[in-house]
Order: sequence, then C-alpha cells, then structure tokens
Amino acid sequence: MCGIVGYTGKDLALGPVLEGLRKLEYRGYDSAGIALITDAGEKLWIEKRAGKLGNLEEILGDKVPNSHSGIGHTRWATHGGPTDENAHPHLDNEGKLAVIHNGIIENYLELRQQLEKAGHIFKSETDSESVAHLLSDSRKKHGGDLAAAMREVCQQLRGSFTLLAIHSDQPGRIVGARRNSPLVVGVGDGENFLASDVSAFISHTKRALELGQDEVADITADAIVITNLTGKTLPHNEYEISWDASAAERGGFEHFMLKEIFEQPKAIADTLLGRISGLESDVTKGIDLKNIDKVVIIACGTAYHAGLVGKYAIEKWANIAVDVELASEYRYREPSVDNKTLLIPISQSGETMDTLMAMRYAKEKGAKVFAVCNTNGSTIPRESDAVLYTHAGPEIAVASTKAFETQLIAMYLIGLHLGRIRGTISAELMAEIESELSELPAKVEQVLETVEPLRELTRKFSKSTSMLFLGRHVGFPTALEGALKLKELAYMHAEGFAGGELKHGPIALIEDGTPVVAIMPAAGSLLAEKMASNIQEVKARGAVIIAIADSPLAAANHLVRIPTTHEFLQPVLSVVPLQVIAYEMAIARGNDVDQPRNLAKSVTVE
Ligand code: M6R
Repeated sequence: MCGIVGYTGKDLALGPVLEGLRKLEYRGYDSAGIALITDAGEKLWIEKRAGKLGNLEEILGDKVPNSHSGIGHTRWATHGGPTDENAHPHLDNEGKLAVIHNGIIENYLELRQQLEKAGHIFKSETDSESVAHLLSDSRKKHGGDLAAAMREVCQQLRGSFTLLAIHSDQPGRIVGARRNSPLVVGVGDGENFLASDVSAFISHTKRALELGQDEVADITADAIVITNLTGKTLPHNEYEISWDASAAERGGFEHFMLKEIFEQPKAIADTLLGRISGLESDVTKGIDLKNIDKVVIIACGTAYHAGLVGKYAIEKWANIAVDVELASEYRYREPSVDNKTLLIPISQSGETMDTLMAMRYAKEKGAKVFAVCNTNGSTIPRESDAVLYTHAGPEIAVASTKAFETQLIAMYLIGLHLGRIRGTISAELMAEIESELSELPAKVEQVLETVEPLRELTRKFSKSTSMLFLGRHVGFPTALEGALKLKELAYMHAEGFAGGELKHGPIALIEDGTPVVAIMPAAGSLLAEKMASNIQEVKARGAVIIAIADSPLAAANHLVRIPTTHEFLQPVLSVVPLQVIAYEMAIARGNDVDQPRNLAKSVTVE
C-alpha cells in the first residue's frame, strides 16, 4: 500500500515525481505529498494534501521552486486518518530532513515516547514520523551521512517498511531502504529513480535494480550505491523491464478495469503459451514435485478464490489432498507442515504481506514453495523455490480481473502437471482438458460480446440493497468472487453461497425482488439439476434470478449465455459476466471504478 517515488537527475524533479505518483496512485489514494530540495538556497520545499493526488496537483500551480531532486508519496492510511497532517512526507524538527514511508513501524509507540522525552515534537499521528526524528538524530551522529543514518535507524525499527529520505544539506541525494515491502531502483542516464514499482519510471528507463531485504540504496544522478545494514557494499542485480509504458495506459477505455476485462483473452492465451502439454522444466526446476503428499494453497481475496477453484482441479486430476487457506489466518494456527508439503502462494502483486508471511512460516517448516505470481522479481517469487508466472501484464485497477483469470489457468496447469507426473489422470481426460484449455481465449471473447446487454440489465438493479451469488462445485468459489467484486466496487451488500447451503440459513435473506445471480454448473453435469432446484427454492420466495449458464434455464428471469466448456474450466467463462455486473453497478452508483474507497491494489501490511 502507499506509493513511493524519488527522482534525482538532469530534469526538474517535479515532473517525474508527479508522473510516478500518478502511476502509483493505485497503491493508495487517501492523501499525497511531495518534498523537493530547491536549487536556489538548498531548502526543503514540501506540499501535501488529504485526498487524491488531484487535490495536491490543484494547489501546486506555478509556485513550485526549481529542484532536481525530490520524493513523492501517495498514502493508504494505517496509523492516523487521511488528513493533511498525516500525509507524507514527514519532517524532522529542523525542517531539513523529509521522509516517506510505506508499511507499518510496529514499535512506533515506544520510539515516539523515547523521542518525545528527548524533546522531539511530533506533528502527526502516524507511525512514520518517528523515522524522520530518528534519522535526524542519527545523521548528526554520523557526521551528516544520511545513508549511515538510514542503516542505523533500520536496525531500530520493527515491522515492514520502504523508506525514502532526503536532506536539504545534500541536494541530489536520496537514500532508500526496504524490509518486507517493495523498493526498486530505476537506472537512468544522468538520472536515477527509487520507487515502489517500476511503473513509476518505466517511461524514462527500462533498467531496474532489485533491492533485497534490509538493503539501503544511496542514489545521486550519476551513482547508485547499495549496502546492507552493516554498510557492506553489495553488487547490483540489474534487470530489463519486459513490458512497456503503453501496457499501463488506459488505451481508449473509460477505466482500467474495463480495459483489463477486455484483455482477458490475451492474458489467458499468454499464460497458456507453451505450457498446455507440460510446464517447462525451467518453471519447476527448483522443486521435486514427485515427493509431496499434500498441497496447501495460501492467498488472499480474489487470489484465494482462484485457489479454491484450484483445489477442485488439483484434487481430482492429481489425486492429492489440497487445503486452501486464507493467508492472513494460516500461520497463526500453527498448522502442521513438513518437507512433503507443497505450498502454493498465489499473488498478483507478489508483495501481499499476509501471503508472504504465511509462506515464510511454511518454508521455515520445510515446505517446498511453488509460487503463482504476476509480478516478475517481486518478493514472493524471489523467496520461492519455483515460480509459475502468470502473464496477465500490469493490472492497474484495484479490482482484480485478468489476474484472476490467469491464476485460474495456473491452477489448471499445475493440476494437469501434477496429474501427469503422478500418473493419476487418464490420457483421455488430459487430452480433453488440454483441448478445452486452448479454446478458452476464444470462448472468453464470445462472453465479452454479451457485455453491452449485461450492462443494461445491471443498471436495472442499481437501487437494490443486496445481491446474492449462488454456485455449486467450482461455481461456488466463482460466486464468492462475484460477491467480492460487487462489494469492492458497488459498496453494496453481496454474498456468495454454495447453492446447497442456502436452506441451512441464508435463504432467510431472500425477499421479494432480491436479485440472485446463479452460476449454473455445466449442462449435463452432476450438479446441474440440484442447482436448478436450489434456484426454484429462492425464486419461490420472490428472488429475481439472473442465470449465468451454458444452456437455457426455465427458472431464469434473465439469462446470460456462456459457451460450453469442461465443467472444471467453467469459472474462466462465468466470472466475466460477474466482473461486468460489478463494473456497471459501480458506474451506476457513481463510484470510482479503478480506485474504490478504502482499498489499495497491493496490500503490503498485515
Ligand atoms: O496481489 P495479490 O494477488 O496477493 O492480492 C490479493 C488480494 O488483495 C486481491 O486479490 C484483492 O482481493 C483484489 N483487489 C480483489 O479484487
């Protein structure tokens, strides 16, 4: 959460810093701020405002002084509400040192008390401000060396952080550090960048350096020095960013989310490419998949729903027990894990703190970690034994769409792969699944052709107070995903249920006119008839049925037809109308589609 950017170089810093913040705003948008070191007089100039970046931009006008180095922050509030005072940057008491922070300083209260006792005056309620005061003291102790101060201060901090600091006595210099939170260096020509992710500087340079855990980067326009916390200089781990700036632009669509919905056929095809008949050995080489007796999938939110679908496929095709766990709960119940456990963390961002911490727990206990991730070089794949990268491309909208689709594909590929190497899947079934997988991009295209009528239908329900989603088998996690999308975007009560579970309580929620979205099992499958009965039960109590089905359904008030596919693969098709319903409902209710309230794209705090 929180987006962080720093620029030092030949250009005026304001442009690249604001541009970086625009690209990073998806990470948090409760407030925004910048700090620049002025060219004339080497003073610190800061401006910050509650609300979206636009609020800050509005007040900047032409009053910004010339400066060639500066930092910027867009916030997702944790400690202290989204106010001007709590917005970053935070300053030391001399007003010479500015700090921005992503993460949580867990021992901030203790630090704050000590600092206040020593005479420091705090201006915000944040955990982050303590770092500015600590750095200020430490820098003096180290003869003005900001990097040395950063190394010392990081050792005093508990929790997770990406930090950037500047000091007005050292124009052109930015010092950054990270622990359990992302920070990349953008390597330019006569200019360098520090940012939460590469989207902040990709239009300037495609060269990037990864910072490892507890590393400190000290950058100027022409030099980059990376050290660990003891001050040892470390080699540069440079890489070339593989996607270009246009991939992160809206490309004519009204919202990123709509663009990303329409990119799904390509994302699926890219993720399947060269993998349907077996995972390349470079994907699995870090791991012995034969020697496992249990699979544990850990993930959060949408990725968790992909994992739930994965359970059905992997258990069936590979004949192995699969547990799917909410990452935020997993390690706290101290589950039994050993070296025969295959742990599959699923994460679009690769930075989700709950998932990362759960994964570290299992790894410590000996589990083999096979990550599914969309973000190259992020922390989760870096700490895994093997990685299956999804190829969704950058996903900017906070609501996950194409990343979910590619996570489903990853689950199927892993299920097939395990089935093959364990000899548990028949040649006929394998051939059928392989063929159906290869047809999915075209079938998702077909579903996308129903978008306009579905948008119109959705608007009819925009005043509803609640919407329920029903599914069975793999349709159940799909229903959960449909409900999550609607809550996230329409701020509306929505719940997903297993069709057979309704009569055990939730059916009491049904009133006259309650819209119920029924995700019908594939026609002819075992559960199709049972689900049809479940729908009759809610219809008899006044529900309006919107059925997502591959064949006509008498009980449906409205039918959204999807193509037929193998029953396990159906979520790839049936989730698309659910995404469209949530998208349209957000618009109809006047909500911000790409940046829904209270959320952030990448959740880097526990
Ligand atoms: O980056 P991750 O896949 O680890 O993120 C996990 C969840 O935070 C994420 O899927 C979230 O639920 C989505 N915004 C929902 O649309």
